[in-house]
Amino acid sequence: MTPNIIEAKKNLNQLGYLNLKVDEKLDLVAEIQKLKKEKNAVILAHYYQEAVIQDIADYLGDSLALAKKAAQTDAETIVFAGVHFMAETAKIINPEKKVLLPDLKAGCSLADSCPPAEFKKFIDQHPDHIVITYINCSAEIKTLSDITCTSSNAVQIIESIPKDQPIIFAPDKNLGKYLIKETGRDMLLWEGSCMVHEAFSIERLLDLHKKHPKAKIIAHPESEEPLLKTAQFIGSTSQLLKFVKEDKGEEFIVATEAGILHQMAKEVPNKILIPAPSNEDNTCACSECAYMKLNTLEKLYLCMKYESPEIILSEEVIEKGRRPIERMLSIS
Ligand code: 13P
Ligand code: SF4
Repeated sequence: MTPNIIEAKKNLNQLGYLNLKVDEKLDLVAEIQKLKKEKNAVILAHYYQEAVIQDIADYLGDSLALAKKAAQTDAETIVFAGVHFMAETAKIINPEKKVLLPDLKAGCSLADSCPPAEFKKFIDQHPDHIVITYINCSAEIKTLSDITCTSSNAVQIIESIPKDQPIIFAPDKNLGKYLIKETGRDMLLWEGSCMVHEAFSIERLLDLHKKHPKAKIIAHPESEEPLLKTAQFIGSTSQLLKFVKEDKGEEFIVATEAGILHQMAKEVPNKILIPAPSNEDNTCACSECAYMKLNTLEKLYLCMKYESPEIILSEEVIEKGRRPIERMLSIS
């Protein structure tokens, strides 16, 4: 028997979403549009969401653009079609608003690679260091940070710190190594990483490039160093999108989560876009973020209808977590 809403809410913490049956005949896109108006809600979606969710969003963007939108919106409810740390960031910026996430288990391997207790010890061992954290970390990690950054503004944030000030950069070691090269700053790195960007196979990528010698390899800086060395352009999701639009090239091999290809194909329908191959023999022959893909249209509909699951954070986490985010927003 399908559980009712009371039972579904009871099971929420265990499952992460409302396990309710949705009428198959329902036009979910139309229902979501109605709910947006009824509840004065805004849908913010990341480029790694499935295509139908990207298309229904009010704003689609990279982590920085979405954080900015969250800071500007006057909607009463923010529905975050993305992962947990993004929804937490929106809540920290908007403590008085309701922030919904279709599936609470939509986490992030990179955020998980930085447990707060261990990170606190690491910081305490280096008390003279300023702590810059990539936005892909938990709210608790943000409370231990001096300033956050995203892959769109990381260089600018690092360059805003006086040259003689030692820096801890966390949690992504791959982005950190890339930024050390870009800025010439010798930062102390936390050893975290994203399993999606580490899943690319350099051998398969080089084979693919042999078959498409004119294709430009473009990559997200969460990727590993050998892959980044092959890339003609490195940037955040929005910077990769801008690059394929503005570059004269006709063919691109894209090394980031494959969801971005939907928006790229919409914006440059005549260009050839090839997802970079992953180590695994999966169905898409690309690298997909299983966390991002936990959000489905059904779960999006249910979370808007029943206003659950909601992101709840303590006042202390909101207060302490806001400082590094506001500092970042004031700089970029
Ligand atoms: P950006 O969209 O900021 O480039 O981040 C990519 C990412 O991995 C989000 O989880
Ligand atoms: Fe996290 Fe990687 Fe998924 Fe981005 S792609 S949400 S960094 S696991």
